[in-house]
Amino acid sequence: MKILLTGSNGQLGRELRRALDIKAPGDAVYTDIEDLDLTDKTAVATFLRTGDFSHVINCAAYNAVDRAEEEKRQCAAANIDAVSNLGLLADELGFKIIHISTDYVFDGKTYRPYREIDKPEPLSVFGVTKRKGETALLGLAPESMIIRPGWLYSPYPGNFVTTILNLASSGAPMRIVADRIGSPTYSADLADAITDIILSGHWSPGIFNYAGEGAASWYDMAVATLEYAGMSDLAAKIVPVSSADYHGAATRPYYTVLDKSKIKATYGIDIPHWLNSLRRCIDRINKQ
Ligand SMILES: NC(=O)c1ccc[n+]([C@@H]2O[C@H](COP(=O)([O-])OP(=O)(O)OC[C@H]3O[C@@H](n4cnc5c(N)ncnc54)[C@H](OP(=O)(O)O)[C@@H]3O)[C@@H](O)[C@H]2O)c1
Repeated sequence: MKILLTGSNGQLGRELRRALDIKAPGDAVYTDIEDLDLTDKTAVATFLRTGDFSHVINCAAYNAVDRAEEEKRQCAAANIDAVSNLGLLADELGFKIIHISTDYVFDGKTYRPYREIDKPEPLSVFGVTKRKGETALLGLAPESMIIRPGWLYSPYPGNFVTTILNLASSGAPMRIVADRIGSPTYSADLADAITDIILSGHWSPGIFNYAGEGAASWYDMAVATLEYAGMSDLAAKIVPVSSADYHGAATRPYYTVLDKSKIKATYGIDIPHWLNSLRRCIDRINKQ
């Protein structure tokens, strides 16, 4: 077994490096854009043809949801063209791909947990490109596995949890959206699940949801973050606001709770509740 992990400097990528180093030491090669730009078709072909990989885990993506409304070309290059470059080679070289997509392929209008068979209706440039990446990959390499996480967080900078902790320490007043509901997903839990899927030796192609159990609004998540970080006074001062008060360039779905029945039944995965995982994430941050 030889695994290529792309996007390995991102938050999910860093958690996967940790999981793979523990569970499959020496079996994985880690790259990010500075070593291997996945939009460079020639470079990708050269790298993969000489690498003898059995699996590719693709965590690379363009994730700036609001900025993507302006930077459509850059977003499409990373989320569609790069994925196609991998898919083209998977067929030729016989490696298997786990590609990471998103809950933002849905429009959020069902108000019941989304299943993999529900029709994607993305609302933003980001969501459209991620959906096109999914269809391109399954067209080129139908044996691929696509995992759609919910809202990802980790101890690493630049996600919702670390942003809330930074805002709290700066003393800035917090007004957090309370009418968007989703599935907070601890990157470390997802990294363990992906590693276990590969090591199980059982390969089931197609699309799978993966997210923390339960459901939360951004407001719920902000309050729980500060409670677990020992800042109950500040948690009580967070003001819940409506999405109408948040003026992002992209339109976001209101409701993207994910149904995880398929991945649990296929791989026997035990998924922790988001509150339990958030507590473990904050414990790690406190120890850093
Ligand atoms: N973040 C979320 O809330 C969320 C929610 C659902 C799904 N997802 C999906 O989950 C996956 C992992 O997300 P994440 O939060 O870990 O992302 P991340 O932290 O933004 O990491 C993505 C990594 O990919 C790299 N990258 C970008 N373009 C590349 C290219 N052309 N070639 C090679 N590497 C490239 C980025 O480098 P630069 O930083 O230099 O650009 C970055 O290191 C992505 O597919 C994302 O769409 C994320």
